[in-house]
Amino acid sequence: MLIKEINEIRKVIKEWKKEGLTVGYVPTMGFLHEGHKSLIKRAVKENDRVIVSVFVNPTQFGPNEDYDSYPRDINKDLKLCEKTGANIVFNPNPDEMYFDNRSTTVSVSGLTNVLCGLKRPGHFDGVCLVVSKFFNIITPDRAYFGQKDAQQVAVIKRMVRDLSIDIEIVTCPIIREEDGLAKSSRNTYLSEEERKAALILSKSLLKAKEKLEKGERNPQIVKSIIKDLINSEPLAKIDYVELVDDDSLENIEYIDKNILIAIAVYIGKTRLIDNFTFNIKKRMVF
Ligand code: PAF
Repeated sequence: MLIKEINEIRKVIKEWKKEGLTVGYVPTMGFLHEGHKSLIKRAVKENDRVIVSVFVNPTQFGPNEDYDSYPRDINKDLKLCEKTGANIVFNPNPDEMYFDNRSTTVSVSGLTNVLCGLKRPGHFDGVCLVVSKFFNIITPDRAYFGQKDAQQVAVIKRMVRDLSIDIEIVTCPIIREEDGLAKSSRNTYLSEEERKAALILSKSLLKAKEKLEKGERNPQIVKSIIKDLINSEPLAKIDYVELVDDDSLENIEYIDKNILIAIAVYIGKTRLIDNFTFNIKKRMVF
């Protein structure tokens, strides 16, 4: 079922809650792919009812970013959601979500000043604003986010903790194409040649992972391995390559705790991100 109005979706959710049903929520900007599908599937498995929001959120795009050209296909999204077992697709118009004279911001400090936050000023304020609005409208029991946006997961978890929001945040693994490229709506921007070049992201991360598994503990060496490989691809331009604590997202001097390796790379004009986490304890068990 497609719902576009806040009042209408609130009515449906109220009825569900009266019946004691649990609600799972999958926030998306649409143009859904296998990655989103895996989140919806997991939500369907773990909840009585599932809502997917499809909303290209204007407040999380910078002035020179791709808000206008961001791919949209609500009919295809509706079909995928229905097939995957979601009960409602919530697709509000921007003027349903935002008042012209809105004056409230939601800002998580510290961990938004690094990685994508550093490169996309204001991006996470927009994400936190829209996600907290959706949380207030939908009041789900659980919300599902993809690990592909690792910083987003860390920021949302911090916001939920700090604001005592009673929602369980479930993180789902990155879904990749067979050749390793992380699924993303932005992959559709890539030409055939760029699509091949984009493999350098997952390849470089794999090489770093191998090195870590062999015992390398110097963050600078691990970062250099990734940078050298990416720089060997003529169509790729590094935006950032970072190795940070996986909870605080702070830089570390030596790898003796769980880390997140996150990269952002331009392939032609398209900015792609990828990451992996290295669990030091699991590694030490082997
Ligand atoms: O990850 C996304 O697609 C967006 O940042 C989100 C969480 C749907 C908020 O607009």
